[in-house]
Amino acid sequence: MTIDFHAPANRYSYAGREVQSDWVAVVRPLVDPVAKRVADIGCGGGLYSAAWADLGAAHVTGVDFSAEMVRTATEKNSGRANIVFRQGDALATGLPAESVDIVFERALIHHLADYDACFREAARLLVDGGRAIVQDRTPEDVALPGSPEHIRGYFFECFPRLLDTERARRPTSQVVEQALGRSGFGALQKVTVWETRKRYDDFLGFATDLRGRVGRSILHALTDAELNELARFIGQRLPANAPVVEKDRWTIWSGTKT
Ligand SMILES: C[S@@+](CC[C@H](N)C(=O)[O-])C[C@H]1O[C@@H](n2cnc3c(N)ncnc32)[C@H](O)[C@@H]1O
Repeated sequence: MTIDFHAPANRYSYAGREVQSDWVAVVRPLVDPVAKRVADIGCGGGLYSAAWADLGAAHVTGVDFSAEMVRTATEKNSGRANIVFRQGDALATGLPAESVDIVFERALIHHLADYDACFREAARLLVDGGRAIVQDRTPEDVALPGSPEHIRGYFFECFPRLLDTERARRPTSQVVEQALGRSGFGALQKVTVWETRKRYDDFLGFATDLRGRVGRSILHALTDAELNELARFIGQRLPANAPVVEKDRWTIWSGTKT
């Protein structure tokens, strides 16, 4: 089973946490968003749409093909006049051409079959000289071993078949770079980031989030019984009664529309 982004039950899956300073520290040197227009494509609950506005963007448009995600993002960002959300497909957003300075796509492309079409749409939206920022996990990011510093690695130790699923859907860096190049982007840069996903007071808080499959689409490939087994497996490997800091390694590609 894969996640159904359109299901009302999943509408808060990408809304229940805060963007952390380690993400800001890596993204900020890549592009100056102050007074810029940003499109956040595949915006989910709009966490990063808000983060771009917090960084000084003049206007942010979040786009998602799921009406439920758009509803959640709108609800979570109500009262912020410079952030709007629209339903649209990443391959044909419906936004005007050359209407933004930055296109941001986080955790989107591994859900798509056609990266070129996605990046061509990003190029269409951008003004000349605009920047695309694409964040996802490569097969190498995903396959890092489990440890208290990389809890997600335990998912694959416990259920190796999940790693096959990840390897099949995660983009290699070469594939992303080539697709960006073919779609009209130059001056490509690649950085990696250990992004804090969430902090929990203790293991119980983490396990509750895990059992809810919150924000981790790969967990939709496990049954409820398997999810309980995974929680037990991880619980045996983390210190009891101590705060849990969940970090994942990501790759961020950026390119300038030429
Ligand atoms: C893993 S979530 C990431 C959400 C958000 N970018 C974040 O990082 O918190 C992927 C999002 O992409 C959206 N999505 C998937 N395929 C899409 C498509 N073809 N067009 C637009 N949005 C899409 C999903 O609905 C979901 O909200």
